[in-house]
Amino acid sequence: MGKNKKNKSAQGSAEIYYPSPEVVERAHIKDYDSLYKRSIEDREGFWAEQAENLEWFKKWDKVLDDSNPPFFKWFVGGKINIVHNAIDRHLKTWRRNKLAIIWEGEPGDVKTYSYHALNREVSKFANVLKSMGVKKGEIVTIYMPQIPELVIAMLACAKIGAAHSVVYGGFSVEALAERIQDAKSRVLITADGGWRRGKITDLKKIANEAIERSPTIEVCITVKRTGHDVYMENDRDFWWHDLMALPVASPKCETEVMDAEDMLFILYTSGTTGKPKGVLHTHGGYAVYTSTTHKFVFDIKDEDRWWCAADPGWITGHSYIVYGPLINGSTIMMYEGAPNHPYPNRWWQMIEKYGITILYTSPTAIRGLMRFGEAWPNRHDLSTLRLLGSVGEPINPEAWRWYYRVIGHEKCPIMDTWWQTETGGFMITPLPITPLKPGSATKPFFGNEIAVVDENGKEVPPGEEGFLVIKKPWPGMARTIYGDPDRYKEVYWKDFEKQGWYKTGDSARIDEDGYVWIIGRIDDVIKVSGYRLGTAEVESALVSHPAVAEAAAIALPHDVKGNAIHTYVILRAGYEGSPDLEEELKKHVVHELGPIARPESITFVDSLPKTRSGKIMRRVLRAQALGQDVGDLSTLEQ
Ligand code: PRX
Repeated sequence: MGKNKKNKSAQGSAEIYYPSPEVVERAHIKDYDSLYKRSIEDREGFWAEQAENLEWFKKWDKVLDDSNPPFFKWFVGGKINIVHNAIDRHLKTWRRNKLAIIWEGEPGDVKTYSYHALNREVSKFANVLKSMGVKKGEIVTIYMPQIPELVIAMLACAKIGAAHSVVYGGFSVEALAERIQDAKSRVLITADGGWRRGKITDLKKIANEAIERSPTIEVCITVKRTGHDVYMENDRDFWWHDLMALPVASPKCETEVMDAEDMLFILYTSGTTGKPKGVLHTHGGYAVYTSTTHKFVFDIKDEDRWWCAADPGWITGHSYIVYGPLINGSTIMMYEGAPNHPYPNRWWQMIEKYGITILYTSPTAIRGLMRFGEAWPNRHDLSTLRLLGSVGEPINPEAWRWYYRVIGHEKCPIMDTWWQTETGGFMITPLPITPLKPGSATKPFFGNEIAVVDENGKEVPPGEEGFLVIKKPWPGMARTIYGDPDRYKEVYWKDFEKQGWYKTGDSARIDEDGYVWIIGRIDDVIKVSGYRLGTAEVESALVSHPAVAEAAAIALPHDVKGNAIHTYVILRAGYEGSPDLEEELKKHVVHELGPIARPESITFVDSLPKTRSGKIMRRVLRAQALGQDVGDLSTLEQ
């Protein structure tokens, strides 16, 4: 890659980084413009061609059914199972001996699985689930640390046609209980705990409390990871290893034939109201979308060792640790713990040890590791790396340059991929051949038409900020919100109903070269360390404490996390604000939601700025906190 200063543009970043001839030479796609044009002119033809790379039990009759927008259907009539493509079909080739997973635990223990071994474990656990009466269409909740059994459990569900709902292991009691209840899960899969910074995270204790609040749970299967004492209830609780040793856990299990549009999983994500949304993805379109985007954007080849350093509990993990990479027959790296444990070279050490070729992570992780200085990565041979990636929040140019120079040694292009839980896979992203501007996610992926518009749907001029919309359906799109199709319509499709566009909830600008610059959320969703949280979730966790009458949460910029949560609390009569109460309330939020939701600050106030209809004006709180002009207050309650 070479750097070249371009004339200063109005868009801020004047730097452009061009790919080196070696990168271009190796790339699957060498000409973005012509393939993009073709993919737009014949979208269905493009996606049909990509779908041909998968194995279908029965080919589709129709690529796209758009007769009932916004409930689009892809590969209608097609029969498939994503696990057949992620595992079974590789067993017929030399890849049966290839490593599917290299996993390292935080204490340093290592496990590896070939595709053959992965199939064996998945089949065994699929039979265990069947023996527990798990049926096609049922939703199994999974709440685990980052261990291989998490991936095995997900794949086992999909193999027998059950759907999974993975709840991130960093979430706590209320968040877990709420998700179990919404999915009406009968079966919960968890672990006794996981390792984080040398300490045990007590998942089983949290799971037990959540089960108390969730009457639908009949069975809980627990992996023994840490070995500390946990409470197991007779007839409800089973150890994973005990079940896997039973004759019923046979290593032979038929993969269920699924309709392309059958539910693969739901994944809860935060929205503007307190209740998280169960975003629903399917077997067919999602398989095509994740594998195609993974292959083209990260230029995946068989010799790669791919490390997506996210947690499988988020969409990034679903799409780019588990499904996309396994469909592409990749070798996947997984690591259980903190990037700086026991020292800040942990990641760099593993890149060297395993010869990782592609690292895909978040700006927060990069900024966090950057703080420790260059000496840590410089101690390690990172020369196997050939591509880098970023996701989850805008990457500031300073972190981009550090990542590029110190980790990538100025030879690895950075794929800044913009997407969402709802999109299933990358929507706006460079390819390895794309000239890069630090901080820009560059251009739409094939088949996607995007625009930045005002509230009337009129495109704003280059360089101006507006709402980011997606104009046409794509195979990886969410199909609905589980159990609430009206909310799906309302949240994503109502604002631009006339045009039939998907509203992303982000604001962005497009520069005169057609490069997209994501600015951030325009709704009440906060991105903290790249994790998505609703202000309403934090507020309702605070209000569930007896001392709190009302609460408001806002996001303010933070050097490492991107944003941090700041809260304002009105206390009930009889309570007085104090540092002790502040700490107690922070702990309460962590107990209800999890450590990522811990407020940075709690300010005790007598009143909150509200509109006449009683809505909290968070933008006023934010402007006040930042010392900015509070703007138009005409709707403020006086
Ligand atoms: O605001 C955008 C931000 O993350 C949001 C989606 O969050 P989530 O559903 O949790 O998915 C995260 C992983 C795909 C988006 O609405 N976002 C995601 N990627 C980027 C980003 N913001 C800027 N640049 C990105 N590359």
